[in-house]
Amino acid sequence: MDKDGNCGAVLAMQNIANPISVARKVMEETPHVMLAGKGAEQFAYEQGFEKTNLLTEESKQAWEEWKKTSKYKPIINIENHDTIGMLAIDADGEIAGACTTSGMAYKMAGRVGDSPIIGAGLFVDNEVGGATATGVGEEVVRTVGSFLIVELMRQGKLPQEACEEGVKRIIAKNKDKQDFQIGFIAINKKGETGGYCIHPGFTYRTYTKEGHVNNPSDSYLKS
Ligand code: GLY
Repeated sequence: MDKDGNCGAVLAMQNIANPISVARKVMEETPHVMLAGKGAEQFAYEQGFEKTNLLTEESKQAWEEWKKTSKYKPIINIENHDTIGMLAIDADGEIAGACTTSGMAYKMAGRVGDSPIIGAGLFVDNEVGGATATGVGEEVVRTVGSFLIVELMRQGKLPQEACEEGVKRIIAKNKDKQDFQIGFIAINKKGETGGYCIHPGFTYRTYTKEGHVNNPSDSYLKS
């Protein structure tokens, strides 16, 4: 998603190693925002992306093992998916963002998480700031989490305060179960950043001209 509100997403797309680059092509080369499944894959080939078999022998064996019980139960902070969210601000204060994921492992066929949904897994409003999410996408979709955080910053909250409020909204909807992880990061027009999560263990990196800093995120639950 760029500074002008242009955005692109692909979802349920197989056989392409870098879907984030296809999402960018959707934004730049089509009149659409989202392409899904076979249509997204076909578009990727038309744009010059190569067909790649992404199923390793190790993943196949892990999946065969999982099928014995077929339990869908994401483990907190165990990386059974690989969501990465990035927010960037340039010297003129222009903000853009991106996120990418393989999605939850061992999900139902056709399941879509938060990452390709603009407003849920990612949102940028160049007048205000940007936010992105990781964790169990269903909970982020239910609160339109990244859009919520940008709107909270519009109302005057700092990125840190907005991320905390975003997590608390999700907690409020899940009073009886908090056995899943969500992490948000955010940036505002001043380049101030914040991050917050439910369970300890989520970290985010900031990169400035001084270099990289790893930031352990504060969490709603302390252990
Ligand atoms: N946050 C990634 C997913 O739920 O698939």
